[in-house]
Amino acid sequence: MFKIVKKEELTADVYLIELEAPDIARKAQPGQFIVLRIGERGERIPLTIADFDRAKGTISILFLVVGKSTRWLSDLRAGDHLVDVSGPLGKPSEIERVGTVLCAGGGVGIGAIHPIARAFREAGNRVIVVMGFRSKDLIVFEDEMRAVCDEFHICTDDGSRGFKGFVAQLVDKILKEDEVDLVYAIGPTMMMRTVCDTTRPHRIKTVVSLNPVMVDGTGMCGSCRVSVGGKTKFCCVDGPEFDGQQVDFDLLMARQKIYLEEEKLSMERYEAKGEGRRAKSERRVKDEKRKAEGECRKVKS
Ligand SMILES: Cc1cc2nc3c(=O)[nH]c(=O)nc-3n(C[C@H](O)[C@H](O)[C@H](O)COP(=O)(O)OP(=O)(O)OC[C@H]3O[C@@H](n4cnc5c(N)ncnc54)[C@H](O)[C@@H]3O)c2cc1C
Ligand code: FES
Repeated sequence: MFKIVKKEELTADVYLIELEAPDIARKAQPGQFIVLRIGERGERIPLTIADFDRAKGTISILFLVVGKSTRWLSDLRAGDHLVDVSGPLGKPSEIERVGTVLCAGGGVGIGAIHPIARAFREAGNRVIVVMGFRSKDLIVFEDEMRAVCDEFHICTDDGSRGFKGFVAQLVDKILKEDEVDLVYAIGPTMMMRTVCDTTRPHRIKTVVSLNPVMVDGTGMCGSCRVSVGGKTKFCCVDGPEFDGQQVDFDLLMARQKIYLEEEKLSMERYEAKGEGRRAKSERRVKDEKRKAEGECRKVKS
């Protein structure tokens, strides 16, 4: 059993959980992930190790609620336990001294890019961080990211904070003004794809961390199959990091959608009964309170 030491809601539907997992914390390297199961009847879901504290024996995960398992995870509290957590899984990032590394993170991809940026900096590289979000209300991990880079940039789709536009547009602007030796891009699949399209004409190696559907996480089931440079790879054991300019993103995006119907049904069932139903009504009360506070602030100002 793995105890939740701390749980924080960072923004709407984005949570940070610190888990007691001393064996994983001892071995974890940047770029690696865990596969967890919440309860006996839970499915296995992969989440990146956003941070690890070897002395405390804990690891942190940063996640966005997208379906039943992430919703269930968000409904747990500090002191609750997960039935199993396997890891660290996947190949660690290849951290070398290359010169200037641009680390671009979108949304909860920031959690994955955080230990990577820190490791590149510790290896003597100059690190430029680019963080992108839909809007300023969704910004997370800003202080943590500022602490591990030499140069910090932020962008929002709606222009409410920093550069107005997408991560790829800001990366393009930086590449036109600066010498960069390596790009890391982690976030939603479309964001990683557009960053790769942007870096291709600049001929800069671009590493991405892929997020196909995974089941066992040990190379046995084949569900995380991706195509890289025309070759079939299993993301859980050959990745999750790959040369982004070689990735078949069309195949990845098509395979990410194969269980949409089942995922929708599973979420509906969870929210219709037991713990899920109770948590849903608690969330509704909280949302209404937040809305009322927002309206109150508007009236006062
Ligand atoms: C190596 C790796 C690292 C990841 N790290 C993070 C992270 O740090 N933070 C984070 O928020 N998310 C991360 N993800 C995605 C996360 O695993 C999925 O969001 C989660 O499994 C969805 O489960 P669900 O039941 O809540 O949603 P579901 O209803 O199952 O699915 C909703 C959507 O999530 C995707 N998805 C579903 N199951 C999986 C699966 N087993 N593996 C991957 N994607 C899936 C599908 O595209 C689907 O449309 C990672 C994925 C991989 C492969
Ligand atoms: S998750 Fe089964 S082979 Fe990768």
